[in-house]
Amino acid sequence: MSTKLCQQKIKLNTGQLMPAVGYGTWQGKPDVNGSTELQDAIVVALEEGYRHIDTAAAYGVEPDVAAAIKKSGVPREELFIVTKLWNTDHDDVEAAFLKSLEKLDTEYIDLYLMHFPQANGAGGVALEHPTPAETWLNMEAVIKKYPTKLRAIGVSNFSKKTIDQLLEVATIKPAVNQVEVNPMWPQPELRAYFEGLGIHITAYSPLGQWDSPLLTDPEIAAIAAKYNVGVGTLLLSWCLANGVSVIPKSARRERMHANINLLKNLEPEDKKFLDEFHFKEGMHRRLCLAGDGTRPTGKELIFGWTYEQMGWETFFVDTDERRPM
Ligand SMILES: NC(=O)c1ccc[n+]([C@@H]2O[C@H](COP(=O)([O-])OP(=O)(O)OC[C@H]3O[C@@H](n4cnc5c(N)ncnc54)[C@H](OP(=O)(O)O)[C@@H]3O)[C@@H](O)[C@H]2O)c1
Repeated sequence: MSTKLCQQKIKLNTGQLMPAVGYGTWQGKPDVNGSTELQDAIVVALEEGYRHIDTAAAYGVEPDVAAAIKKSGVPREELFIVTKLWNTDHDDVEAAFLKSLEKLDTEYIDLYLMHFPQANGAGGVALEHPTPAETWLNMEAVIKKYPTKLRAIGVSNFSKKTIDQLLEVATIKPAVNQVEVNPMWPQPELRAYFEGLGIHITAYSPLGQWDSPLLTDPEIAAIAAKYNVGVGTLLLSWCLANGVSVIPKSARRERMHANINLLKNLEPEDKKFLDEFHFKEGMHRRLCLAGDGTRPTGKELIFGWTYEQMGWETFFVDTDERRPM
């Protein structure tokens, strides 16, 4: 019915080719007390064919990524490495970038993202300055100063509101915005807006994170069975069908394999079903967990900012009668 697609590449607005499926390293356990669990998982991911690795300073796992790449023997030039500037480092982007470079033990970083728009001070307090636009100008200064060490810059968790503020001052357009996308939080308006700007969207939590309701939904399972694949493969293929790259995390080889061998084509009615899945009763909500491990409600603060400051949609199934667009 449908042929399998091993690795497709996305052309970014920088001209770089980024593998459409990356390996997510959050939830990965850093090398604490000598455990090599995450390093071993990344080695397996590289064996399975992943060539795009998503990490961040905040995950505390950059040294594990470096160790795994070394163990795997995969040449650096085959890899696309993404890492992120943490909120407490907005006031000194250069120092934070150089620290990530050192921890990743690599000559260059392919893509450096502003992890969140807001800067945080001591105790997680949101600071007025630097603003997202000011931090972006600091990121521009770093890529201009280190053109051989940094190939592209981008953002994460940005909305229409925050990207508009950034673009007012930017001389370099972000290459990517990494945000949550899955059938319960498909964000079609956001995707269309960024596509119009020429900024690629990468989906985080594309499977819905731990205990994802998407993975146990019988109708989604029935569609996956039609293609003779698991639900994970179907959900990730749906992202790709919407022009969105994915960075699923798994610690298990068979799932890593399933997550990188995606369907090239979805029947239009199956894509439509997943596009519209979030209209079903109780199925419209962010799945990426809030800081306390519960599902977000739209009312909590995101690193000191309200949803309104983030420019994030606040409609959630449990908190509002209004149906989404
Ligand atoms: N920019 C940001 O703010 C941000 C936020 C969140 C995440 N991220 C990035 O996005 C990556 C992925 O997101 P995520 O880790 O939140 O969630 P995710 O990839 O949507 O889901 C991971 C969960 O799904 C399970 N899983 C993986 N493949 C599966 C399959 N084929 N079938 C069934 N279950 C499967 C994993 O368990 P097993 O390991 O047991 O397989 C794990 O519990 C992160 O690792 C991180 O790199 C970025």
